[in-house]
Amino acid sequence: MPDVIGIGIVGAGIIGQVHANALKDIDGARIVAVADPREDAGRSLADSHGAAWYSSYTDLLANDDVSLVILATPSGLHADQTVLAAQAGKHIVTEKPMAITADGLDRMIQATEEAGVELAVIFQNRLSADIIRVKRGVEAGMLGTTVFGNASVHWFRDQDYYGANGGWRGTWELDGGGALMNQSIHTIDLAQWIMGGVASVSADIATLNHDIETEDTATATVRYNSGALGTIQGSTAAGKDWPVRVELVGTGGKALIEGGRLVHWEGDSDLTDDVLTAGDLAFVEGWTPGEPFGASHRRQLRLIIAALRDGDTPPVPAREARKAVDVILAIYKSAKHGQRVTIA
Ligand SMILES: NC(=O)c1ccc[n+]([C@@H]2O[C@H](COP(=O)([O-])OP(=O)(O)OC[C@H]3O[C@@H](n4cnc5c(N)ncnc54)[C@H](O)[C@@H]3O)[C@@H](O)[C@H]2O)c1
Repeated sequence: MPDVIGIGIVGAGIIGQVHANALKDIDGARIVAVADPREDAGRSLADSHGAAWYSSYTDLLANDDVSLVILATPSGLHADQTVLAAQAGKHIVTEKPMAITADGLDRMIQATEEAGVELAVIFQNRLSADIIRVKRGVEAGMLGTTVFGNASVHWFRDQDYYGANGGWRGTWELDGGGALMNQSIHTIDLAQWIMGGVASVSADIATLNHDIETEDTATATVRYNSGALGTIQGSTAAGKDWPVRVELVGTGGKALIEGGRLVHWEGDSDLTDDVLTAGDLAFVEGWTPGEPFGASHRRQLRLIIAALRDGDTPPVPAREARKAVDVILAIYKSAKHGQRVTIA
């Protein structure tokens, strides 16, 4: 790995710009290339970092100064773009969702393992001390045996949101779903991570207040691997953005995480940093409650760059990041067939 890792940002839209901003403060990383078929967006992001602009992704991959690509493109492109990057010998960071089909998830893992390159997925909401404390507290039995793990995302997106930047949002081909695959995936990931994985789901989806192909509202009942039950709700048709919630209920207590903060803890003892491992403390270093959007991207990217430099597995690895997608795909399948779906 060179002293300074050359980064190619792929997609100069909303989140591509967040990545570019985040990288400004990270030592040992430099944006050397930007790819986006939209010349205005691509060129202006490239120029502001002294990087080269490419209209074509494959041309960016041919640039030997690029060691790591960051995929900030419509979700339905992540799988093919990862495979191409792996074949070109580049490490990959992709935005969530990692992919939107099981085949895409499998191909990404196979291609990166075959090429011996790393694939990390942005799940920045995991990098919160409150979340990890709760996860470790639940694992240590501080709430007793878990009974419920509930996740809810009640948000509002207007119709214009679905038309922006080429109108890929709300399409099956490029968004891979709606309120669940795009917005609720972070909260679903936190719930499944804290609870130790989902075994099966039974679900309904609906499109209630938008002119889009995919769901803007979904609800599921969940059976976790532990035997606990729970619910998942996700919507972009709610009246406004209410804080997202993860609620854990056990035989000995209850926890409520709201908007990424632990707002209620009633366990067999107080939840302190004593539950955290050294690895956990490094994972959440620099976390501040209520930090602005983009701060946790920066912290995850910093850990990814450090891991690449040290030859470690960067967070969040593909096999871990695919779990939330597998849950969402199972929800869609259940809703389509009217049957409970088991996750392999
Ligand atoms: N982690 C988060 O909290 C978070 C937040 C927002 C978006 N995202 C994810 O980031 C991704 C992009 O979302 P966005 O909101 O930035 O979308 P966006 O529409 O604002 O930007 C996408 C960009 O990709 C470009 N693009 C399209 N095809 C391309 C190609 N073949 N090669 C290069 N560039 C191409 C588009 O021109 C556009 O500029 C999605 O997967 C989304 O789920 C993650």
